[in-house]
Amino acid sequence: MSGEQEKLNVPVCQKKGELAPFAGALPPSADTISDLICRELIAEAKKMLPMAYAPYSGFQVGAALLTASKKIYTGCNIENAAFSPTVCAERTAFFKAVSEGEREFTAIAVIGGKNGSPSDYTAPCGVCRQVMAEFCNLQKFYVIIARSEEDYWLYRLDELLPISFSPKNLGR
Ligand code: THU
Repeated sequence: MSGEQEKLNVPVCQKKGELAPFAGALPPSADTISDLICRELIAEAKKMLPMAYAPYSGFQVGAALLTASKKIYTGCNIENAAFSPTVCAERTAFFKAVSEGEREFTAIAVIGGKNGSPSDYTAPCGVCRQVMAEFCNLQKFYVIIARSEEDYWLYRLDELLPISFSPKNLGR
């Protein structure tokens, strides 16, 4: 499946035995996601590794974001000679989705590594976590930090970004 307009034909919540292995400290809520969805998102994120523009760090990252409407938006990191304009794979995926009218999200998978080889887990940076917090329910949005389809950690966003500054602080 390749990106934006494709739909995932599996329900977000599946039977108990099909739930994704949960690495986080908090128990998964009733609407946790399935192992199947995690694997599919990881596969989509992996496909983005060759698209990464990372001539400075050589660290390529791919992300796949699942919307509540079950579309997948993918992203890669895009670096810049001036360094600070660099954007991470997660934000690329979010901004693509938001720019097309998406506002509700279920999960994101992230995979990355030097020269596109994911030998370790790549956790979202603080800025990306903050962008996720803008659009997601922290208790219901899941972050999949993967090395492969078979080897990943699953967290709820509230575990990765506790006590956050959020739209609520501004009365939204
Ligand atoms: N990067 C991401 O795209 N996502 C992450 O979760 C961590 C870091 C990118 C930014 C930069 O292009 C490269 O990885 C090295 O920091």
